[in-house]
Amino acid sequence: MWKLESSSLDLTVLPVEESLYTLANGYLGIRGCFEEGYPQHYTSIRGTYINGFYDLVEAKYSEKLFGFPEMQEKMPNLMDVQTIEIYLDGECVSLFNGNHVNYKRTLYFDEGYAERSFEYQTQKGKSASIRFRRMVSFQIKELFAIEVKIKYEGEILVKSYMNGEVSNYTDAFDPRVGEHAKLLDWKSSNLIDGRYMIITARTKQTDYEVGCAVYHHCSEKDAFVEIAGEQEPKMRAVYSTNGRMTLTKYAAYSHSRHNQEPVLHRILDIIKKHSIRSFDEHLAIQRLYLENFWHHSDIQIYGNDLIQQGVRFSLFQLLQSVGKDGLTNIAAKGLTGEGYEGHYFWDTEIYILPVLQLVQPEIAEKLLIYRHSILDHARKEARILGHKRGVKYPWRTIAGRECSTFFPAGTAQYHINGDIAYGFIQHYLQHEDLDFICRYGAEVIFETARLWLDVGHFHDGKFMIHNVTGPDEYSCIVNNNYYTNAMARYNMEWAVKFYEMLKLENPQILEEITRKIQMVETEIDEMIEASQNMYLPYDEVLKIHKQDDAFLDKALWDFEGTPEEKYPLLLYYHPLTIYRYQVIKQADTVLAHFLLEDFSEEASIRNAFDYYEKVTTHDSSLSSCIYGIMASKCGYYEKAYDYFMETVRLDLDNTHGNTKDGLHIANLGGTALSVIFGFAGYRIKNEGIALSPWCPQNWSGYGFRLIYRGRKLCVKVTDYLEIELLEGEKLQLKVYGRQYELEKVLKIPLEGLKRDDQSCNI
Ligand code: BGC
Repeated sequence: MWKLESSSLDLTVLPVEESLYTLANGYLGIRGCFEEGYPQHYTSIRGTYINGFYDLVEAKYSEKLFGFPEMQEKMPNLMDVQTIEIYLDGECVSLFNGNHVNYKRTLYFDEGYAERSFEYQTQKGKSASIRFRRMVSFQIKELFAIEVKIKYEGEILVKSYMNGEVSNYTDAFDPRVGEHAKLLDWKSSNLIDGRYMIITARTKQTDYEVGCAVYHHCSEKDAFVEIAGEQEPKMRAVYSTNGRMTLTKYAAYSHSRHNQEPVLHRILDIIKKHSIRSFDEHLAIQRLYLENFWHHSDIQIYGNDLIQQGVRFSLFQLLQSVGKDGLTNIAAKGLTGEGYEGHYFWDTEIYILPVLQLVQPEIAEKLLIYRHSILDHARKEARILGHKRGVKYPWRTIAGRECSTFFPAGTAQYHINGDIAYGFIQHYLQHEDLDFICRYGAEVIFETARLWLDVGHFHDGKFMIHNVTGPDEYSCIVNNNYYTNAMARYNMEWAVKFYEMLKLENPQILEEITRKIQMVETEIDEMIEASQNMYLPYDEVLKIHKQDDAFLDKALWDFEGTPEEKYPLLLYYHPLTIYRYQVIKQADTVLAHFLLEDFSEEASIRNAFDYYEKVTTHDSSLSSCIYGIMASKCGYYEKAYDYFMETVRLDLDNTHGNTKDGLHIANLGGTALSVIFGFAGYRIKNEGIALSPWCPQNWSGYGFRLIYRGRKLCVKVTDYLEIELLEGEKLQLKVYGRQYELEKVLKIPLEGLKRDDQSCNI
């Protein structure tokens, strides 16, 4: 199952489909809006975005205290080139006024394009066949193309637009959507060489230039009518003919933030070079790119098409959203919408990186290189927060500034430091690339580790971290959040390990880094002391780690008395109300147990799952996948599958009700994690990799590939676990806790829940 299909024209579903049918390549993203438009006053988010391109808006507070961010970065909606109107004998084609049959739209994961087609019947009873195809090229990142093919026995007139007067979407009632509408000022519209339409604009505050060039190619040589709108924000090209027409619209976007070359020069160059290829020729190149991607990255689900579709949709959208240049990252909504304003969060390291690291390590590295590139911002932020040493990464950002205006659930999430360090460490464990650590990782890991020394303090011989917020945003500014303390411990342990490793392997680099950041050896001693004595709150009665010092002392939330329509709680209850209760937005301690399973006893991990699950709302889309993975670990197979179903269908079924604002990218990563880390029980540790797979009963099996320390492996789970070493030297690995050597192929019968186990109704 390599596609997503829809034949519904339900106006309430179309905004969701705009997100689902987004085409993007990690640089440029275009929502799946209808070329010919919608009924008047209909809310569509007609979005075009560039990853990492941003403007600044003033951060608003009624009471602004010291150190609050002054400005916020925000991803602007760019000039729109999606609009193409079609007139048949003068009648404007609209799916909402006229009659039509055989409407269908499709997004092809293996070919990287979208198609929309229908038969249109005019008022006079004549019929036309219309098909749109569009793609955002993976090969030429600036390039977007739409092809429209019309067959009609009569006069066909097509008006194709470029609109430089654009705004961002706003919603005063939803804190997850921004409030600043206009970020871009139109500057110029020009026609060059009589055929290249160019619009340029500038961001209001950052004064970056962005430009778009459009060129049309029409199959009917004498169809050209005019190009109008020079010096106006909206330009238009008109083509007219009889019988049939294929019009291809090429658009190239570039901007001045990351490019030295003048914008106009760049877009003209691209459009001239690449508009000589037909849509099909571009498609052939796109197919090759994707063939290569899927060869390494596909997760196959045997015997269940619906799930297969969801899993591939997730992987495809991850590829479409992720920045691949080391200058950009992956936003919480990717390039599929404006929710969270194009910001990057910890979502990257905890939900997305672990997937890419296995199958696309080069892209994973680029995400980490981006984190290294914003160290200076993080340094500055640490000083603002009063820390004399180390760095504090921004909770949400594009270019590196802290953009969170609600510090209790933003800046206070110090765990992001540990998460980023964790990302580097996992990458090292997976690929054993010490050179990468020397170039990028060590500085990040030392600097994040140093911060804990400054944030925490010793009390009764234990190292404590007070006044931070863990992943659960329904308990803010707490003392000793287990997740944060555990991640801090890991961060410091590895800072020490890398320090020792570099001392032996590359003392010169170590000397350069420590000199640059002015770190002295006694700080390494401090890290040893702090990590060894890290306080990890534990409840002796429940035999679980406490989410934080006070969590278990709070009253229980009245779940029975909370009607369904009052979820997510954050939209209906004052934060202070929520903070007073044992109620959790998303996996917190349970997530720590996934990431750092060796920090706790198996029994306490299971107890924690049992306890915290009862008080977790999963109001964040970052939750169900983690609970699913941990349900697999605990042997709760039915639950694991239920959570997986929630995860895999979350955007496809719009279960959180806000997919129109963009896809939940962390959850898409979580879908892949659920199969690999959940069902297959994959883990990467110091000693190497481990698996403990089971297989949902209504699948015939599943399989995936991965790259591990220079080797390529293929994993298949059916009635057996079958691991094949495709490339590289033999290795030691653990399956169900037992050590094996893999030379060519290993075949081990499944333990735990097997496919034919009837005791579980999956
Ligand atoms: C979650 C955060 C997450 C953010 C962006 C919030 O709802 O609570 O953990 O980073 O969304 O995805």
